[in-house]
Amino acid sequence: MLAFLIKIMSNKKFIGTLSQKEILKLYSKHVNAPKVRIFKGMGFGVIPGERKGIYFKTLAGSRPSDPPLEMINCRSSGGVFNLGHCNPRIIQVLKDALDGGLDIGDHMLLSEQRALLGKKLAELMPGDISRTTFGVSGGEAIDTAIKFSRAYTKRKGCISAIRGYHGHTGFALLAGDKEFKDPFLWNNPDFVQVPFGDADAMRKAVTEEISCVILETIPATGGVLIAPEGYFPAVREICDEKGVMMIMDEVQAGLGRTGEFWAIHGGMYPNEKVVPDFIVCGKGMSSGIYPLSTCSYKPFIEKEIFKEDPFIHISTTGGSDLGCAVASEMLDIQSDPKFLAHVREMGKIFGKGLEAIAAENSELIKEVRGRGLMWGVEFFAESYCQFGMISIIKEGVLQNYCGNKKDTLIIMPPLIVQKEEIEDIINRIRKGILNLRKIKK
Ligand SMILES: Cc1ncc(COP(=O)(O)O)c(C=O)c1O
Repeated sequence: MLAFLIKIMSNKKFIGTLSQKEILKLYSKHVNAPKVRIFKGMGFGVIPGERKGIYFKTLAGSRPSDPPLEMINCRSSGGVFNLGHCNPRIIQVLKDALDGGLDIGDHMLLSEQRALLGKKLAELMPGDISRTTFGVSGGEAIDTAIKFSRAYTKRKGCISAIRGYHGHTGFALLAGDKEFKDPFLWNNPDFVQVPFGDADAMRKAVTEEISCVILETIPATGGVLIAPEGYFPAVREICDEKGVMMIMDEVQAGLGRTGEFWAIHGGMYPNEKVVPDFIVCGKGMSSGIYPLSTCSYKPFIEKEIFKEDPFIHISTTGGSDLGCAVASEMLDIQSDPKFLAHVREMGKIFGKGLEAIAAENSELIKEVRGRGLMWGVEFFAESYCQFGMISIIKEGVLQNYCGNKKDTLIIMPPLIVQKEEIEDIINRIRKGILNLRKIKK
């Protein structure tokens, strides 16, 4: 009876408590006014309300005249929503964990949940990558990997890819493009960028002053670039020759997105099973429910980093007990061979659909490329891509152009997407591009 009463009393509403107009006003006043202006300018409702599976509804229009839209989320927030919105299995685990007495835990102490998640990750990692340091965000976990590489090698240099993106925190930001660093007066000659996919450029850049090479397996913000066969094995070889750490950022491409659990280990080319020194995950670790990121690495690195002081690196909320419980359930779901086979099957249908659209619109679309359920559509002009994005959103498919390559759309449906839904998405994209052709005329 008491539990029932508490449930009724605490039945608090969160979605739609304010009108769209009120939210925009508050957002402008207290969060980010220029961002509100941009979304208003695009002219459609963009505040997510109810959400479930691959769908979410926007709150009634960002302009008072706009109706609420039902959207298929093909942004997936870069892989956060690999399991769709509010996945019932994940929500149940979080509820069970709360009911079972878990909270964030104490980062200074040891943790049953971190131990269990660390073991599960080690079992899934390629080679002998078996140690994990936890964080909250992808950027934090990337910072950790670069930090540990510097401490291990006693060198400062870092090589990353032009147009790569690893986050907006300290070292992660330094490894990214200029326009994100310059406004913050954040430059450092130890951080050098080379063209992605060019092994010769990498060989020239990697000297004995370099601590690490950091790459996204599929640069997402950089345009969903696909490295030529042999590139990653060559990078591994170059790193080995010069005693340099190889860090793979699998924040977007990992956890089954390519149809293999790790993009670097079979997800790009079936025969390329590269074992880097570090694998970093974020986004999908949370299942969109509880934030967690991981920086996993080989035991020889751990020995060096923590030998003097095991408390040298900490994160109060990174690797929280609740977050570990959620991530552990996600790993069980996404590492299941049947789940990965589903991603491969859906990916094939999706890729074929996109290629057909490209063939029908060869005057607009230059190339379609991807792996599994991670696809890029490159247009001949940035303007085609940007109008195309809006046009496709108007057909109810949320996606976006790549921040560092604005002529390319990145399309990442949740990994739980079903065949009929893929067909629906393809039809909507086709309609969106058709509308773009009309605008272009
Ligand atoms: C490939 C990649 N790495 C790292 C990050 C940083 O993650 P976060 O925003 O959680 O710090 C992102 C974020 O978009 C990303 O796409």
